[in-house]
Amino acid sequence: MLTAPGIYATSLHSSPAPLPDKYANGSMRPSTQSSSSASPASTSQTPIQTSPTTPSTAPENTSQLLPLTPRPLPKVSDIPAQIPDFDALVAELRRQLGFTSGIDSADVDVENLKEAMRRYISSRKEWGKFALEDPSRNYTRNGVDTLNEKANLLVLVWNPGKGSLIHDHSNAHCVMKILEGELVETQYKFPDPNAPPRPMDKQKVTEYGKDEVTYISDEIGLHRMSNETDKIAISLHLYTPPWAAKYGCYSFNEKTSKQIWTDLSNLYSDKGVLCGKMSSHV
Ligand SMILES: [Fe+2]
Repeated sequence: MLTAPGIYATSLHSSPAPLPDKYANGSMRPSTQSSSSASPASTSQTPIQTSPTTPSTAPENTSQLLPLTPRPLPKVSDIPAQIPDFDALVAELRRQLGFTSGIDSADVDVENLKEAMRRYISSRKEWGKFALEDPSRNYTRNGVDTLNEKANLLVLVWNPGKGSLIHDHSNAHCVMKILEGELVETQYKFPDPNAPPRPMDKQKVTEYGKDEVTYISDEIGLHRMSNETDKIAISLHLYTPPWAAKYGCYSFNEKTSKQIWTDLSNLYSDKGVLCGKMSSHV
């Protein structure tokens, strides 16, 4: 039995998000995270009595709150056998994330998110309005939806022969689907921040073609995405929770393993409209 989404408001400011071991000494976190107002936290949920259309407005009188009850994650059998178009995919991703009890990484069922992406067959006429190209850049980051503020869904347009820096994923999940063309993922081990400069340790290289889906998190390692072809490649990325957009990520020098904090708050476009600021290249 699935329960209607949206009856819980999620606090983003209550406690620090759980950190992987590599963050244990705190030296790798962006300075914005030390502020209580900018903490990426978020395991707490506050049940509210307002309608699902106003989940961010918590009531003043907490004495009348509904009891907190666990809600089941969606099962693969709950996913439509066919997802007919891009809008339906976005709706399905929103439905899945809406059923989580909060915005913590541990609440997300990655396999269900991946399966939903697999069941959509990419068609440019459905997502083309989001795929803004810019030949002067390695790639563009184009916003599609925030999925009830629980994620960032982006369309990335990769120019031929271009790629990202090696980067982490800010302690969040990243599910990626190729919408058009081909991309290469090169994975690396997370370097020891206390070790002397040395080349990054490459783990594996994987090619992905149209409609293939993959996943990475900081638990798996770091990666670099690149378009090794002579044609544009376009990919769909779901980042949940949306920590990278809120707090940035770290990029890494392949030769020295040196890490640099990178702002990812700016998009090239959002919902098909060009943004005023230039986004970071990661
Ligand atoms: Fe990535």
